[in-house]
Amino acid sequence: MCGIVAYIGQRNAYPVVLKGLKRLEYRGYDSAGIAIINHGLHVYKKKGKVAGLEDYLTGRNMESHIAIGHTRWATHGEPCDRNSHPHTSGDGKLAMIHNGIIENYAQLKQELLNKGHVFSSDTDTEVLIHFIEEIRNSNQCSVEEAVRIALKRVVGAYVIVIVDEDNPDTLIAARKGSPLVIGVGKGEHFLASDASPIVEYTKEVVYVNDYEIAIVKADELILKNITNERQTPYIQKLDIELTAIEKGGYDHFMLKEIFEQPQTIFDSLRGRLDAKNGQLTLGGIREYADVLKNANRIIIVACGTSWHAGLVAEYMIEELCRIPVEVEYASEFRYRNPVVGPGDVIIAVSQSGETADTLVAMESAKQKGAIILGVCNVVGSSIARLSHAGAYTHAGPEIGVASTKAFTAQLVVLCLIGLKVASEKGTITQQRFQHLLDELQDIPEKVAATLQLNDAVKQVADKYKDARDFLYLGRGYNFPVALEGALKLKEISYIHAEGYPAAEMKHGPIALVDEQLPVVFVATRDSFYEKIVSNIQEIKARKGKVIAIVTEGDQIIPGMADDVIEVPEADELVAPVISVIPLQLLAYHIGVLKGYDVDKPRNLAKSVTVE
Ligand code: AGP
Ligand code: GLU
Repeated sequence: MCGIVAYIGQRNAYPVVLKGLKRLEYRGYDSAGIAIINHGLHVYKKKGKVAGLEDYLTGRNMESHIAIGHTRWATHGEPCDRNSHPHTSGDGKLAMIHNGIIENYAQLKQELLNKGHVFSSDTDTEVLIHFIEEIRNSNQCSVEEAVRIALKRVVGAYVIVIVDEDNPDTLIAARKGSPLVIGVGKGEHFLASDASPIVEYTKEVVYVNDYEIAIVKADELILKNITNERQTPYIQKLDIELTAIEKGGYDHFMLKEIFEQPQTIFDSLRGRLDAKNGQLTLGGIREYADVLKNANRIIIVACGTSWHAGLVAEYMIEELCRIPVEVEYASEFRYRNPVVGPGDVIIAVSQSGETADTLVAMESAKQKGAIILGVCNVVGSSIARLSHAGAYTHAGPEIGVASTKAFTAQLVVLCLIGLKVASEKGTITQQRFQHLLDELQDIPEKVAATLQLNDAVKQVADKYKDARDFLYLGRGYNFPVALEGALKLKEISYIHAEGYPAAEMKHGPIALVDEQLPVVFVATRDSFYEKIVSNIQEIKARKGKVIAIVTEGDQIIPGMADDVIEVPEADELVAPVISVIPLQLLAYHIGVLKGYDVDKPRNLAKSVTVE
């Protein structure tokens, strides 16, 4: 969480950093701040969004060739001006931005208080910059050396970037656990949490590794490890374009990303699926095909929407490959000392590739001897790099905090993995294999047809936008879709919503049903169809309002439901890619109709880099 940006070079740094903060604002947006050096160090910070900081700074002289900026998602201390970053050292000469958590900050703070340090915020970040200052003063060493010593004592996750009034030609940065990308320009460098603030200036980037310290000047980038040995920066080429991170005429990134899905799904399949010739290629996992085929067990670890994609994959992979699959919340998996080891394959699913809970779960399983595959969207992300192998989802940058196109891309890629393993293992007939390849081939077109329902979904949204609670129900492959629909609604409309397996409803949640409660049924035609029809009856018998997502041409459910959205027919294994689309649109329209900022819902952040 939180976005950090820094610049050093010949340009005026302030506009570069401000624009970068706007691009990174999806990562956290409760406060923002900037530090520049212009006849001394100047720090400006404000509670609220980046636009508020910009207004506050209008008319000031912001000339500087060096700047650091931060947009915060508070972990320690409420969002307010005082707790915003950058934080400064006691002598006011060092300013620092930080993404992450310093877990042992309380102990460090006590030591520093004993030495007479005075703090003006409640953050862990301010403790760290004072700690660095203390080391520099007591050891009479450089800031770089002090950072190195300090970080050996720090427990937690961080990216930090420091400017020093006495050394205005250098930025010092370090990373452990949170992401840091450095853009390499001609006589200039850009530092950021992801590539989006960098892409319009340079396509050459270096991904900083854990425990590395970067000493960055306008025309020089030095990377060192924590034991002070120089590392050769590995320069990679970015493959994203500026248009991918702009709204392109849509009101919100979320809507743009929902509408991009026919293309993003096509991109996930491109070069992998050759339905005409009955072929499937997954270069990224080729070397591990045998390991997968012979796996005792597959454990999918993920959080949030990615966890929902994992649940769909459980159904797919068990059915196709006859390998037992477990789907774990990454945050729970790690800390219950799970039984895992050689012979197990972990699939980590993540849009950002930076989710701390998922990373920690992977690390622990890796130490225990499991093979780790990553299904990530962000190329070069920490999860991608920690995996033994994997497959990118290729959905392009996802900026709306509520995940949409990344989810459908995950479903498609996980389906490809299941099909590949099943075909190698011989657990699928040639006929079924070919049928599913054909189904996948048709998906982008069917998703495009589903998006035509946007106006109809908007009308449903208008009708139910004032409901206090929603229930989402589905069975089989559509059960995780119900969970995902409920999560989308909660995230951006702040309406309480629950997802449940439709049959489980009678074991408790049915008590909630009355004439006020909208119940969304994901009831496309599949092997559970008759059962779910009965579940709809049970809701209607109790006067609940039923909104049903059904397959085109359904003759039964439209006669029972209050509102019906008909989606194109698809094999049940790939149907979630289609049935989730109206639920994404429903959440979007309710959020907008209620007047909320759907791209930046309250309390959330796009990339959850703290545990
Ligand atoms: C989805 O809409 C969420 N905002 C959130 O649940 C997200 O899916 C989760 O934090 C996992 O993120 P990741 O895919 O980047 O790992
Ligand atoms: N822990 C720091 C704070 O609460 C940084 C949080 C962030 O990553 O935005 O201020």
